[in-house]
Amino acid sequence: VSKTDIAVIVLAAGKGTRMKSELPKVLHSIAGKPMIGHVIDTAMNLKPKHLITVLGPNMTDVARAIAHTSQSVVQNERLGTADAVKPALAVLGKFDGIIIILYADTPLIKHETLISMVRKLDKTDVAVLGFMAKDATGYGRLVLDKNNNLKKIIECKDATNEEKKINLANSGIFACKGKILPKLIKQVDNKNAKGEYYLTDIVAIASKDGYKTGYITGDEQEVQGVNDRAQLSDAEYIYQQRMRYKFMVDGVTMPDPESVYFWYDTKIAKDVTIGQNVVFGEEVEIESNVEIRPFCHIVGAKIGKSSIIGPFARLRPGTNIAANVRIGNYVEIKKTDIKAGTKIPHLSYIGDAKIGKDANIGAGTITCNYDGFSKYVTEIGDGVFIGSNSVLVAPVKIGTDAFVAAGSTITKNVPKEALAIGRAKQTEKLGWIKIFRKRKSKMK
Ligand code: UD1
Ligand code: CA
Repeated sequence: VSKTDIAVIVLAAGKGTRMKSELPKVLHSIAGKPMIGHVIDTAMNLKPKHLITVLGPNMTDVARAIAHTSQSVVQNERLGTADAVKPALAVLGKFDGIIIILYADTPLIKHETLISMVRKLDKTDVAVLGFMAKDATGYGRLVLDKNNNLKKIIECKDATNEEKKINLANSGIFACKGKILPKLIKQVDNKNAKGEYYLTDIVAIASKDGYKTGYITGDEQEVQGVNDRAQLSDAEYIYQQRMRYKFMVDGVTMPDPESVYFWYDTKIAKDVTIGQNVVFGEEVEIESNVEIRPFCHIVGAKIGKSSIIGPFARLRPGTNIAANVRIGNYVEIKKTDIKAGTKIPHLSYIGDAKIGKDANIGAGTITCNYDGFSKYVTEIGDGVFIGSNSVLVAPVKIGTDAFVAAGSTITKNVPKEALAIGRAKQTEKLGWIKIFRKRKSKMK
């Protein structure tokens, strides 16, 4: 990245009242990961020497959620963004590298943009990430002098009518030389419309002190803040679009990408095809040449090369599918290992099972894995054939190449190569219909 050390400060002390939620704002998720997690991940990509998150008092659940990745400090009173930086600066002491300030509620910020911010500090002392806003209402504005140099940032509430016409807005993201930031912050006062200590004031203060200030412009989508749940869904949409685009660029075919939803950690190899209306949950890994047909819901599953899943399949956590497996429509699978070449083509529930290779599990096969108290395992050997509509009452083992007759209820282990028939024997009563009809007609 840079030969200079980097420290990142993530501001997250805000209350987020507009979310109307018991859950702190920054713990609301995008593609399954809390917003603050996305920001911290992006910060971590810079390999910072320090990563400090500023929380409000009593935000212990946020502190706990980020404890493994970021140190946290507390801003006791919400006195403004400049004040929020202070407890982090106290930790950084005489840090001499580059300080980057991010907002925890601006989760879509990209690594490349932060790199550009770091580069901007080659020629300046303070750099701001601005953007051209379609509607800049509510945002601070970047005020430029006649040579287009950044002069100051004016907050919306303090802006003159002339300044309000500026649509170059402040994203809130700053990069500043660590050596000077404490000096600048110290000079910020709260004589403004909101009575807050504005971080944005450091631009004018830096200019006054003879430091160089500058800005770069980012993309409006990338710097979008999340203040309410409508904006949360906007951010989700943008994030999903990014993932879809990335997968397609990496060799995944999707005829209708907008109908496919990913989790932040979904892994898909190339030459995979994903049909319409497929939804992924956490921890899914798909190897090359797999085909996911329309309307599947897939969570916590590994799918091996060239397997075909769906349409209408539900794969639940702990599903481990090898290569060339076929899972068809209305099949639900949970916590099950399935070896190569096996087929479960239609209408089955398979839970807590181990299935060997080249087995054929007929339509309507159900593993009875639960007796209301505990879960039990069903083991099905290589080459087994389970006839349609069979019930396998676990714990039970079906040996290699065994054959279970259709409609069986299997409660005992089946030896290898055996035929198991677990159903009432069929009988025929000849001429029965005539007797039946006569009796019925007498009853009229
Ligand atoms: C801020 C910027 C504004 C910019 C906008 C972009 C200032 C003064 N203004 O305004 O120029 O256009 O973001 O979205 O910086 N926070 C704290 N402690 C505080 C106050 C805020 O940690 O005392 C945190 C919040 O949790 C949030 C971030 O700082 O993550 C921004 O605070 P917010 O009050 O939303 O600032 P804006 O008024 O939106
Ligand atoms: Ca805001």
